[in-house]
Amino acid sequence: MSQYSKEIDKRRTFAIISHPDAGKTTLTEKLLLFGGAIHVAGAVKSNKIKKTATSDWMEIEKQRGISVATSVMAFDYEDHKINILDTPGHQDFAEDTFRTLTAVDSVIIVVDVAKGVEAQTRKLMEVCRMRKTPVIVFVNKMDRDGKDPFDLLDEIEEELKINVRPLSWPIDMGQRFKGVYNIFEQKLDLYTPSKQYVTESVEFKDINSPELEKHIDSSLAEKLRADIELIEGVYPEFDVETYLKGDIAPVFFGSALHNFGVRELLDCFIRIAPSPRPVQAIERVVNPYEDNFTGFVFKIHANMDPNHRSCIAFVKICSGRFERNANYKHVRFNKGMRFSSPTAFMAQKKETVDEAFAGDIIGLPDTGNFKIGDTLTSGEELHFKGLPSFSPEMFKYIENADPMKAKQLAKGIEQLMDEGVAQLFVNQFNNRKIIGTVGQLQFEVIQYRLLHEYGAQCKWEPISLYKACWIESDNAVMLENFKKRKMQYMARDKEGRDVYLADSSYVLTMAQQDFPDIKFHFTSEF
Ligand code: G4P
Repeated sequence: MSQYSKEIDKRRTFAIISHPDAGKTTLTEKLLLFGGAIHVAGAVKSNKIKKTATSDWMEIEKQRGISVATSVMAFDYEDHKINILDTPGHQDFAEDTFRTLTAVDSVIIVVDVAKGVEAQTRKLMEVCRMRKTPVIVFVNKMDRDGKDPFDLLDEIEEELKINVRPLSWPIDMGQRFKGVYNIFEQKLDLYTPSKQYVTESVEFKDINSPELEKHIDSSLAEKLRADIELIEGVYPEFDVETYLKGDIAPVFFGSALHNFGVRELLDCFIRIAPSPRPVQAIERVVNPYEDNFTGFVFKIHANMDPNHRSCIAFVKICSGRFERNANYKHVRFNKGMRFSSPTAFMAQKKETVDEAFAGDIIGLPDTGNFKIGDTLTSGEELHFKGLPSFSPEMFKYIENADPMKAKQLAKGIEQLMDEGVAQLFVNQFNNRKIIGTVGQLQFEVIQYRLLHEYGAQCKWEPISLYKACWIESDNAVMLENFKKRKMQYMARDKEGRDVYLADSSYVLTMAQQDFPDIKFHFTSEF
């Protein structure tokens, strides 16, 4: 038990993830409206990058700038403090999202009822699975025609590889959408399209009661009864512990745009979603209720204006209380630091705070002291586990285009990589530097920033690679043989780990067959 228990128990820190356009921004906005954090719809700017702007990345960065303000949105709701961590919508910045997921205690996944599970959601769910993050699914856009709910649940189970348990059930959909039966609270929530909110909410313990026909047509009532019977028969009883272990995802149905099912989602969320959870450091597990402060940097937001080379380092507080102007240890530097203007993010305002607790996110103005993964403590020598890197999708050699500026280029590359803009691999055979990214846009961002912030010029040279694999084996002889055989394709990542850069999926499959004792990982955390 800690003197801060009351504060820490109140906190719910989570991210909403979805494929672009499924309704993440709309849902976030509705949640903020309930929390009284904003008062008008349309106040939350989508940090989604508009399709027309994809060729103009300065514009994208400008839009991304919005996301500093909306990186974390905190609000109070029914004696809870909710911290929503925003994630970039554009898939070229997916790495940012992966890292954000390391700082949350749970996740809400938004799925479009018509489109079902889409590519980006699948990948993000992989991260949740790796970290056993509890997940709630919100099936959105029920006011539109979409997939049959049972088919959709099967799809979610199959595609996201997680068991599901509906906690609400739709009564028809599209123009005929009548509402949902809230299984969690045993209520009937009725919807009138023109009214745009729950028009009637009736407690309904026994769905077999003839009372049901007073609220909905008899054919719909019959269907609902049959559906609920099937659900009870097919899906296991909802168990909070199983959800908290990340083994089952409760599912809600609604419409974010029409504000239907959102409060129900939020009410269930604050009851079942976890308060800050213990975090694994290399040395030990850190419990949030410990009195001493610990935290780690999970995101660095650079200022694109070269005249103000300051960044904001986002720190997730893992335990205890953070205090303004107190002396904390920057573990990698082994040195004390004080922070005079830490910021917190209430609703969409950034303000200086005097204290913050486990579960909270604070922003620390920084001029290059932090890199992603850095640990801060009250004095303990502690290292939170590295954040996972995923195999990039695109690779290019980076070369110096101005021999007078080699130093600047090296420094720029190092700092941008520390900020997590992309991944650097150094070929062990010829020492050439290879940059790996998730999308083409990042190459442009890097080139521009090297020039404008470091005065360095780079040029890109093509290299045809398929995947980066982190390799390990208990069979030292086989590992050595492999490295010798693949000498030209062996590289080191920024932590100095061995990475095999496979040039095609065929070659990779052959390598896996020829070297059965070697494990090929597509993420750096295994
Ligand atoms: P994202 O952040 O996940 O990318 O999605 P966002 O909330 O921006 O929503 C994408 C589009 O889907 C928006 O329409 C939004 O109004 C719509 N939408 C969200 N929830 C619902 C819903 O429950 N029902 C219906 N019918 N539509 C929904 P848009 O036309 O792209 O943008 P806008 O011009 O309306 O802002």
